[in-house]
This record gives sequence, C-alpha cells and structure tokens, in this order.
Amino acid sequence: MTESAFAGRMRHEKFFSCAADKRRDDLNYRASISVERIPGRFPYATWHSPEGPRDVVVWCSNDQLGMSQHPKVVGAMVQTVLHAGAGAGGARDTCGTNRMLLDLEAEIADLHRKQAAMLFTSGYIANAAGLSAVARLVPRCLVISDEHNHHSMIEGISKSGCKKRIWRHNDLEHLEQILREERGRPALIAFESIYAISGDVAPIRQICDLARRFGAITYLNEANAVGICGAGGAGMAEREGLASRIDIIEGTLAQAYGCLGGYIAGRAVLVDALRTHAPGYAFTNALPPPLCAASLAAIRHLKESSWECERLAQNAATLRAGLIKAGLPVRPGQEHIISLAVGDIAMARAMCNALLSDFSLHLRPAGHSAAARDTAYLRILPSSHHDKTMLTALVNALAEVWRRFEPSWSYQPDAAE
Ligand SMILES: Cc1ncc(COP(=O)(O)O)c(C=O)c1O
Repeated sequence: MTESAFAGRMRHEKFFSCAADKRRDDLNYRASISVERIPGRFPYATWHSPEGPRDVVVWCSNDQLGMSQHPKVVGAMVQTVLHAGAGAGGARDTCGTNRMLLDLEAEIADLHRKQAAMLFTSGYIANAAGLSAVARLVPRCLVISDEHNHHSMIEGISKSGCKKRIWRHNDLEHLEQILREERGRPALIAFESIYAISGDVAPIRQICDLARRFGAITYLNEANAVGICGAGGAGMAEREGLASRIDIIEGTLAQAYGCLGGYIAGRAVLVDALRTHAPGYAFTNALPPPLCAASLAAIRHLKESSWECERLAQNAATLRAGLIKAGLPVRPGQEHIISLAVGDIAMARAMCNALLSDFSLHLRPAGHSAAARDTAYLRILPSSHHDKTMLTALVNALAEVWRRFEPSWSYQPDAAE
C-alpha cells in the first residue's frame, strides 16, 4: 500500500472510530452480550460470560409465548428445509413466489379479517417501506404520528417525503387539534396499539372516531400485540372490536410468533398498489419457505391454543403486583410489557449488568429514542414459560438492585394522562 493510500485509510478509520466514540460519550453506544437460548429450556439461556458459560433466566425476549421453540413451529421449519431448501432463491418479481409465502399471506389476511396481506422481510421493513409507500400514494398526504412511534415508522414517514406532524403521545386533544388545523388535507394517522418501550396502550376507539370525523386513514402497528391479544391472536384492535375500523394493520412475525418477517394487511386494492410501489417488496429476496412454514404453524397454533396467552397474562399481572408491592416505580398499565423508571441510561445499564452478574437475570434498558439519556427504563418481558419461583426471584433481585443504586427518577405521567 502506498503512503497516501495508507493515510487515506487511516482517515476513514478515524471517521468510524469517532462515530463510535461519540456514541460512547453520549452513553448511546450499543453493545450486546453473547447469549444463546437453549431449545426446550426456555426461558433459560446460556450467557457466555468472561468467566465462562453460565445459565441465566431471560426477561427481555420478544418470544413471549415460547413459539420459536414450539415443536409444531420447529417441525414445520425442519420439514420445509428438507423439501424446499433454506432460501427463497430470489425476489418475488424476478423468481416467482413460493407456495408457503402465499399461504402465509392468506393466513394473515384471515387472522385480521382483511381482504389481503403482504409480507416483508421484517416488521421494520414493513413500516419503513410499506408506511412510506402508503403515504406517498395519497396526494398531499399529511402523516400524523404519535411521538412514541417505533423507529421503523419514523423512518417510513420521513422516507415518504410527506408533510408530518407529531402528536403528543396518546393525547387525543392534541390529535384533534392537528386534524382541525389541517382540515381539507388528506391525513394518515400512524400509531401503535401497545407501545414497545412503555407498554402503554393507545386509545384505539377514540382515534378511530376522530379518523372517521375527519376522514383520515388509520395505520396501526400491532407488533407488540399480534399473537398475544385478541381472539386467535389477532391483536388489540380485534380485542376491542375495532379491527374493521382500522384501514391498515402492520405486524411482525418475530415477536409472539417467534420467527421472522413483517406484514401489512388491508384492502386488496391497497395491497395491490403496495406490490408495485413499496421498494422493500421488490428489490430484495423473498422470505425463505422454511420461515414462512414456521410462521404459518405459529399463527395456526395460536389461533387454536389459548393457554400460552392466559399464562402470560397471569405472569404479567403477578409480576406487576409484586413489583408495585416492593415499591418499585412501575409504569402504570395492564399489558405484558412492564417498564420500571430508572432515568439515567448509564445507571440503567449498570443495574442490568448487576442483575446479570450477581443474580443470573438477563434484562436490558430501553428508552424512547437513542437521545433520551435521562428517561431510561428497565423493560421487562415476562413469558408464558416463567414460573412462580422465577417471578419471585426477579422481584427480590430488582428490589435489591434498587436499594444498591437508588435511581432518583420515578414514573412521570405524560401530558396526556
Ligand atoms: C412496535 C414495533 N414495531 C416494529 C418492530 C420491528 O419488527 P421486526 O423486529 O420484525 O423488524 C418492533 C420490534 O421490536 C416493534 O416493537
């Protein structure tokens, strides 16, 4: 390598190391630990600690119903690998669509009682590509977005190039005010049913009422609800009897269904338009048949089986009550995501490290945005597979860690509450 080429390379390396250092300085550097889940032993996992492998109990997995290890799901995946191979072999337009994927889309449409559904390679892509395409297809569209919407929705909205207004989290008066101010302009209201960080639930009925009054389109992200809430796992809108009033439902197959992939469900005409207009559909390989088969098995299983959701609801309620009794700052709610207010992100990380090394409990801090360093939570995801002893052990360990660290931030009601 010549001297000037070497100097150029060093300069480039500096860009990257400065970027990482900046994240370290503002305490947003991301480092994940090495954890392997153990088939058949969920929620245990092996943590590859600096001292060697150790069993830990996982409290931060999206796989809250244990579907990723369910024999029907694993069996469907293995069978399909054997007769269809590992990959899809191409993008849908260029290579054709495998039967499993079409069956999965039909199953998802049926789950949400919509005319059609369209798969993407993840929930993130479904929002980033799908939401942006929907907004772009509506002339002069104004996107009104809840301030706590997931990053994938924010990306979809900014990629759409449409005018955007952010409404204060779950604040119906503010939403109405924006709709009034923008009357006459086509609007799309984008929100989540259960918010990923806080576990807050959206006032879906009132949002649908406002949408009807002002003629707005509703786009509901059900990522944290599908598989868990509503009859057969059809989500929060279904549970509230409102699915037919939601124009577009977005979901993921990577959380309660334990697999991978994301989707948009809605009217056939919308899905047809998205097929030609959403870049995340055309210019990428299709979901592999084994993954489609596994997701199909998970959806079908949860349409029939209710014990997993019932156990999860019981465990979440028991844990929430135990944490409140122990005097910990639990964000109010009733769903299966439980958040404890810590405040300082560095302290939240240190608390998680202590829970892992001293109590063999694996959970991670979370915040609404990478920049929110003073509003960090410990986000707990109980599952249908945790038992009473594990629930008690978690409450005791958290109480001890709270005594040790004494975080000063407590739950702060949002303006809307
Ligand atoms: C609310 C919400 N939307 C979208 C996603 C992204 O889904 P996926 O993991 O399938 O990309 C997540 C995942 O954490 C989520 O919580």
